[in-house]
Amino acid sequence: MTAHPAAPSGYVFDNDSPHSDRHHASLEEGLDPLTLGHLREAGVAPGMRCLEIGAGAGSISRALLRMVSPGGTVTATDIKPGRIAPEPGLTALAHDVVTDPLPEEAYDVVVARLVLQHLPERRAVLRRLVRALVPGGLLQVDEFDAGHEPCLLAPSPDDALLYERFTTAKAALMRAGGGDPTWGRRAPAALREAGLTGLRIRPHVLVRAPGTPALGLQLHHLAHLAPRLREGGFDPAELDRLGAIMRSPDFAAATGVLYSVQGRRPAPASSLPTPLSTPCSEAT
Ligand SMILES: C[S@@+](CC[C@H](N)C(=O)[O-])C[C@H]1O[C@@H](n2cnc3c(N)ncnc32)[C@H](O)[C@@H]1O
Repeated sequence: MTAHPAAPSGYVFDNDSPHSDRHHASLEEGLDPLTLGHLREAGVAPGMRCLEIGAGAGSISRALLRMVSPGGTVTATDIKPGRIAPEPGLTALAHDVVTDPLPEEAYDVVVARLVLQHLPERRAVLRRLVRALVPGGLLQVDEFDAGHEPCLLAPSPDDALLYERFTTAKAALMRAGGGDPTWGRRAPAALREAGLTGLRIRPHVLVRAPGTPALGLQLHHLAHLAPRLREGGFDPAELDRLGAIMRSPDFAAATGVLYSVQGRRPAPASSLPTPLSTPCSEAT
């Protein structure tokens, strides 16, 4: 991998947007405890070499570095890595995971959160991520299935309908950019198809209520997508109303399901212990 300016993609929440700081802060606050807890439970430990793709502002990579220190390294890549502050042991690289080369059998741990669902080439990328792992290495993919994000409380029934129109439009914009907002539900099968074994699947749902990071993320999406929502038929008063609904103390909604899926690259057959020539059986 080399550091170089990377090409733009169809990714809808551009890191250069003025809303990006709020976006990444909400992801860190809302999701890092889940993502990092699963990595810790899987045995991520000092000395390991880690890769995070689509690292955003790098909060997972920074925390990973603390888990693998001393002796470990973390490479954090993104098509727009400008928000990842480098530090000793952490390398930040501009890298398009779809088109740029990835070293093979180089990492003990690879992490991808909320990246693959944005990429039409996600299955091919997944196969490359598996090849980047050493045998026995761990891949963790955390992805939303936004197929069901109900409004649970709203100031009025019309407000609930407007909110649900917004979540439907948001999913359509993601699809138009080549994304799959429901990919989280397909991630386990995709990891298995890519050759990983020992799959561990953990679903999480968060509440979007005033003051929660999950609502902060949704408010970011509303601000970021406002111009495209207007093109898609929302009038400015409806967009203002949506902001007011979501900030109201009478509002609550559920996120989609965040699936955190882990799998390991199998060791080659030659490195497995030789099977016994006769099966064990109980003496009779
Ligand atoms: C929703 S953000 C998630 C950021 C981070 N993984 C997190 O969960 O906090 C998606 C990230 O993927 C990056 N991205 C999009 N397309 C990419 C590509 N083709 N190669 C590498 N990164 C990409 C974006 O720039 C953005 O930082």
